[in-house]
Amino acid sequence: MSFTAPIQLPGLTLDPQWYRRSVFYEVMVRSFVDSNGDGAGDLQGLIGKLDYLQWLGIDALWLPPFYNSPLKDGGYDVSDFRSILPEFGTLDEFKDLVTKAHERNMRIVIDYPLNHTSDQHDWFQQSRSDPTGPFGDYYVWRDNDEEYANIRIIFVDTEESNWTFDSVRRQFFFHRFFSHQPDLNFENAGVREAVFDTVRYWMDLGVDGIRLDAIPYLFESEAGNGEGEPETHDFIKELREMVDRNYPGRILIAEANQWPREVAAFFGTDEEPECHMAFDFPVMPRIFYALRSQHAGELISVLSETLDIPKGAGWGVFLRNHDELTLEMVSEEYRQAMYGWYAYDPRMRSNIGIRRRLAPLLDNSRAELELVHALLFSLPGSPFLYYGDEIGMGDNIWLPDRDSSRTPMQWTPDRNAGFSTADPGKLFLPVVQSLVYHYNLINVESQLAQSRSLLHWVRNVIHVRKAHPTFGLGEITVLPTSHESVLAFVRSYAGSGTQFGDSPENVLCVFSFAHNPVSATIDLADFAGSSTWDLFGGAEFPTVSEEGVLTVTLGTQSFYWLHLGTPSGVGGRP
Ligand code: NOJ
Ligand code: CA
Repeated sequence: MSFTAPIQLPGLTLDPQWYRRSVFYEVMVRSFVDSNGDGAGDLQGLIGKLDYLQWLGIDALWLPPFYNSPLKDGGYDVSDFRSILPEFGTLDEFKDLVTKAHERNMRIVIDYPLNHTSDQHDWFQQSRSDPTGPFGDYYVWRDNDEEYANIRIIFVDTEESNWTFDSVRRQFFFHRFFSHQPDLNFENAGVREAVFDTVRYWMDLGVDGIRLDAIPYLFESEAGNGEGEPETHDFIKELREMVDRNYPGRILIAEANQWPREVAAFFGTDEEPECHMAFDFPVMPRIFYALRSQHAGELISVLSETLDIPKGAGWGVFLRNHDELTLEMVSEEYRQAMYGWYAYDPRMRSNIGIRRRLAPLLDNSRAELELVHALLFSLPGSPFLYYGDEIGMGDNIWLPDRDSSRTPMQWTPDRNAGFSTADPGKLFLPVVQSLVYHYNLINVESQLAQSRSLLHWVRNVIHVRKAHPTFGLGEITVLPTSHESVLAFVRSYAGSGTQFGDSPENVLCVFSFAHNPVSATIDLADFAGSSTWDLFGGAEFPTVSEEGVLTVTLGTQSFYWLHLGTPSGVGGRP
């Protein structure tokens, strides 16, 4: 495979706000490429595909945990935070990955499950056997299981309590997730220092950012619900202060699956910042809701909610990731509707969510795949793609838990989808061989060979987005429209660096969730008389009327990105 040279955007390399203009890609090392034929993906395999990712337009990779681990929770059960799981490679190979990514102007963000460890971690082994020793207080031990009754259970499919009795120490330990994942005791100064040391360790190795896994749950209290307690925010502020001081330009990303205001709290304030980015959990399920309900209202209200976030803070928007599509932060009525539409087979459910990949969720509808990607790439924040979704990979709901959507990447129609040369029976998970998503049909090689494939479409939309800084840096104004299925907003950026020169850039984004063609009027009072130009092909569209109204007709589940104003040169393709 050969790929064309990347587009160099001015200022990206040194831009301290690089993360706001970046397109991120979540890549599970184990699932991507197996370089040594042992049946599991590894760092060397990933290094070999950096050219592909660069060609696609990816600016930053997010690597879920690759540390030593019994792998009972996809690696989020860490037994040594400073090591590389031997199956994945060596520390030298990790350093090589960082170097080779940086050579391609691509950043590396790692994942740090700081809230808990595996029960195989040496700290826990020592803590349970030596209560008065140096690690005796590293976990949350109690004589009974009565404390923190207000704290919800997250893994409702497998856990009955947040407390588990340990037969060695003869006490209960606290855990927010699996009972093999004891929570660290953040009241203990040694734990807090160890977390700082781990962050320094990886930043010294050159990583550009850290996803703070399960960040709301660090501290517990009897009065609160153990999610975003004040002590947790104080701790993150200190961590941010250390990172800004010692590693300027590196970022912290909050994984906080909470209601909008609570998620936004993880950005901190201008004076006391916390994370640079936070995943936009509130927006994600509402995108799927809009698709099936044909109503834009839920999205409009969440996007119109004004959340006071610090300058420079950025949302991480996503459609899918390695977890279930979580429905924890929606109302019961809404959740039932989502289950009815997207998880009609009980096997598709997991905890409080849906364990399916993007393409099967959307019934492999090309129109819907394009519509949701267009939304993803134009909403405020930086888009996070999940590996394989760029080719519309399928899932396997017969596999347990979230393995359903962690199957090997499909590169070619050859053995094991080109993922591995191993005996097929040896693969860590089987490749998808379902009727619609079989790797014979859905793979990178064949999509590269078809100019109208989803892969080429996604690559093109990424490059159009990257040519317009307003998507990463601009404000959003949600606009009234005459049709309940239509969402319209303007992204506005007053800065420079656009292909339209130094003048402000305003892009009108219109999406129709209707299952039939519709016509709608959009209230564009601030842009009365403006011309409109399609960002993809550069064609001129109707002018906004002198009264500030634009009438658009939209095909079934379609969208427009329109430049507002009179550009000196147009055309989306950079
Ligand atoms: C959040 C991660 O995304 C998920 O995969 C994991 O199971 C939990 N944290 C527990 O670490
Ligand atoms: Ca391997």
